Amino acid sequence: MRPRRSVLYVPGSNAKALAKARTLACDGLILDLEDSVAPETKASARGAVAAALAEGGFGRREVLVRVNARGTEWFEADLAALARTAADGLVLPKAESPADVAEAVALLGRAGAREGLPLWLTIETPRGVLAADALAGAHPAVAGLVAGTSDLTKELHARHVPGREPLLYALSAIVLAARAHSLAALDGVHLHLDDEAGFAAACRQGRNLGFDGKTLIHPRTIEPANRLFAPDPQEVAAAHRLLDVWSVARGEGRAVAVLDGRLVEELHARDAARLVALAAALAARETAG
Ligand code: COA
Ligand code: MG
Repeated sequence: MRPRRSVLYVPGSNAKALAKARTLACDGLILDLEDSVAPETKASARGAVAAALAEGGFGRREVLVRVNARGTEWFEADLAALARTAADGLVLPKAESPADVAEAVALLGRAGAREGLPLWLTIETPRGVLAADALAGAHPAVAGLVAGTSDLTKELHARHVPGREPLLYALSAIVLAARAHSLAALDGVHLHLDDEAGFAAACRQGRNLGFDGKTLIHPRTIEPANRLFAPDPQEVAAAHRLLDVWSVARGEGRAVAVLDGRLVEELHARDAARLVALAAALAARETAG
């Protein structure tokens, strides 16, 4: 199980940020060629990201690269330049239909990409939300969905409000589609850089909705995202107790048990096992440093 609590966007055009990314405690990085890179800088950023991947040094961090969207003048060159790098996956922005995925797979194949190079899809348009299920199942290489909440808010003519009510339908649709196809799901960014309380509330909400982690724009938000998306110690202790009670029940041929006055069934045991596996993966990571 791979932790993905904190995934930081790093502008591909920012050499200092690309260097700093190798030292940060985030679970993943999205080296960006899209929104954070100006049109005049697209080509040099593409080269800088390819060079950074060739140089390596990202350690255990999962390194994804966000290319420009299909239909832009940069899409094909981005895919060609990134097909054979050490990236752990590519993020396709503004994914709207399975044809977007098919086109990327075909172009990557022609450019010599390895079979199964993971593709992550950003859901950030009304069409993308409505097609989330089809997108999630579009190809076996699809590994995760990313909520693009800034673009989506704009597209919906909605407002950025605390509590994110205007986005709840879309956020849930993204988690539903991801879970239906056993993919990872990352929540969107929090735009206000010095709104610590708002950031924490958005992390808790994302975690409660089922997201694996949050996409981030600034290093200072890595620590709270790591903390808020990790299972908390009481949760893990309760999961261990539940698994003990469950194993006794199964040993006695029962399919139900009661723990602290609450019903325990197979589904609860599975959820507890997932939590314990995530906690173990995080503990192993701590030990490895
Ligand atoms: N990735 C890696 N390093 C980053 C970073 C990021 N996303 N954002 C900031 N840093 C680094 C800075 O380079 C600086 O490094 P230093 O300590 O070596 O000088 C340090 O963190 C502190 O940065 P700070 O001065 O507080 O911020 P800034 O003014 O340099 O940058 C932003 C602010 C918003 C421009 C920057 O965080 C950013 O570009 N974020 C990503 C935006 C993005 O990718 N958007 C697209 C997806 S929504
Ligand atoms: Mg965008």
